[in-house]
Amino acid sequence: MLTRRDCLALTANTCAVLALKPRLLAAQERGPVITRPIPATGELLPIIGCGSSATFSQAAGQEDAEAVRGVLQTMIEHGGKVFDTAPGYGASEEFAGKIVNDLDMHEEIFWATKLNVAGFRGGSADPAAARAQVGASFDRLGREKIDLIQVHNVADLAGQFPILRELKQQGRVRYIGTTSTFKPQYETLERFMREQTLDFIGIDYAVDNLSAEERIFPLAQERKIAVMAYMPFGRTRLWERVKGREVPAWANEFGAQTWAQFFLKFAASHPAVTVVTPATSRAEHMVDNMAAARGRLPSSEERRRMVEFVSSLPAV
Ligand SMILES: NC(=O)c1ccc[n+]([C@@H]2O[C@H](COP(=O)([O-])OP(=O)(O)OC[C@H]3O[C@@H](n4cnc5c(N)ncnc54)[C@H](OP(=O)(O)O)[C@@H]3O)[C@@H](O)[C@H]2O)c1
Repeated sequence: MLTRRDCLALTANTCAVLALKPRLLAAQERGPVITRPIPATGELLPIIGCGSSATFSQAAGQEDAEAVRGVLQTMIEHGGKVFDTAPGYGASEEFAGKIVNDLDMHEEIFWATKLNVAGFRGGSADPAAARAQVGASFDRLGREKIDLIQVHNVADLAGQFPILRELKQQGRVRYIGTTSTFKPQYETLERFMREQTLDFIGIDYAVDNLSAEERIFPLAQERKIAVMAYMPFGRTRLWERVKGREVPAWANEFGAQTWAQFFLKFAASHPAVTVVTPATSRAEHMVDNMAAARGRLPSSEERRRMVEFVSSLPAV
């Protein structure tokens, strides 16, 4: 149900989204949105989506319906589909779920959420609490089926992953997996990828953070596991590194006109990566990010040049 306040915000947001329309037309001239198949099924996903920790969660926490709605609507309008959230990201899952319901956007969104009641420091999960958390995710989204649920940060995989496997067998979850953005957890992640059948992993990857290329990406390709690339801007790290600098002219050869497009095209161009999910709380940034999904991706030679360029900048 939309409240009067929601309707007013919706009107304002519609105006804001309409104001971005010329940029949509310009983006479309770059060609269609590039897609990649989920190895387990061949289902195609647009290579850029949207994440929701940090700034997005702050907007949701402040109940800034206009901002959150604008980001989700813009992602869809510009050809994106994947939205990554988690019960642990403050109000993000709840608030985004409400908006998806209000605007009846279920079919347009690939909803990826997480499970973790174990904490991130090696605790064990109470099975009843884990099931209750998954139940709350279903309630928030108001759907019988969720596209993807991943165990957050490889926490108590022995206790939590079987719950996801069971939900998949029941047809309530389409894909299951696990995530990590902490190097000391990579070994656990790697072992799990070798020993279990999983559809997705989520891992940190950026032009200045290439650790995943060493063992995790080749293993994902070998085991036919889809990769969701997280933190493509290193949150604030890369923004600080390029502050006050122009995007090099040669990056325009593969269509990177802004720093966001430079960083996203880099992450998306690794062949193991299925989708990159940068977080944003601003519709105009979503436009910018989605533009990275169109046109050409950098070649391996261009990727080398991108890494060299960024590593030549003073570290922050
Ligand atoms: N273990 C896990 O499962 C795990 C861990 C970390 C992250 N993740 C997932 O990965 C997602 C992305 O990671 P992240 O949020 O940590 O970092 P990120 O996507 O690397 O960076 C987000 C930051 O970039 C800014 N930004 C976004 N688009 C921009 C643009 N076009 N121009 C300028 N600034 C822009 C955002 O600010 P604005 O709001 O102002 O745009 C925000 O400050 C998360 O949201 C989450 O869904 C998962």
